[in-house]
Amino acid sequence: MPHRSQEIAALFPDHVIVLAGKPGSVTGELFNEELECVERAVEKRRLEFTAGRLLAREALKQLGVGPSPLLPAKDRSPIWPAGIAGTISHTRDFCAVAVATHNNSRCLGMDVEESSPLRDELIERICTERELGWLASREKAGEDRGRLGKLIFSAKEAFYKCQYPLTARFLEFEDVELEIDLDSSTFTATVRPEVNELPTDLQLSARFSTLDELIVCAVSG
Ligand SMILES: CC(C)(COP(=O)(O)OP(=O)(O)OC[C@H]1O[C@@H](n2cnc3c(N)ncnc32)[C@H](O)[C@@H]1OP(=O)(O)O)[C@@H](O)C(=O)NCCC(=O)NCCS
Repeated sequence: MPHRSQEIAALFPDHVIVLAGKPGSVTGELFNEELECVERAVEKRRLEFTAGRLLAREALKQLGVGPSPLLPAKDRSPIWPAGIAGTISHTRDFCAVAVATHNNSRCLGMDVEESSPLRDELIERICTERELGWLASREKAGEDRGRLGKLIFSAKEAFYKCQYPLTARFLEFEDVELEIDLDSSTFTATVRPEVNELPTDLQLSARFSTLDELIVCAVSG
């Protein structure tokens, strides 16, 4: 699969560095502290973790940040160097990383999914009533409900990752409602007011792309 760094970078503001690659093909050595994180993991997990860490290290280098272990917090979110916002996502065959300085972005969230359709029972679990109504209207217009369901899933995951460093808040799927604009390939996400802890001055930009076999959602604030 060709590396998609440029197509994915186009979903973020210009200052965001994006690198992508195939797990197993990204070369380099992990720091010992990073190796310890996956020493008991299955091979798939070791490969995706390794690709994410090596791509992140190279992307951080492009921001002028020297190499250091990128360790996960107890909640599994990466502990980015001071002054850096970042996000990592992987599928079986693909890994992508985005980073920016806090001067330019307070938070980033990215999700990559294989574009296979989402099963109906999962669509029912992750969508709000309003989103289900939107899906029904799009289906009537001839669009693929399963693939749009996957897009909703991916967009919510990207939004979740973006908000997490600012709120440390776990969100249920029904806490977040999306409005997707298929023409402009953008979306907005609204958190139920009773759970919302996002700063009031935060302006989020949220875009998506369907790159052949991949759906990529990118949120930055
Ligand atoms: C964290 C989560 C979003 C990851 O999504 P995923 O599609 O399973 O997997 P991805 O490959 O896209 O992303 C995994 C990466 O996300 C990052 N990540 C993990 N937890 C995170 C968090 N709380 N905040 C931000 N990033 C996180 C990590 O870098 C991880 O890769 P790594 O372990 O190799 O470092 C998901 O596993 C999860 O915990 N979801 C619960 C919350 C949720 O989905 N709520 C409903 C949406 S609103």
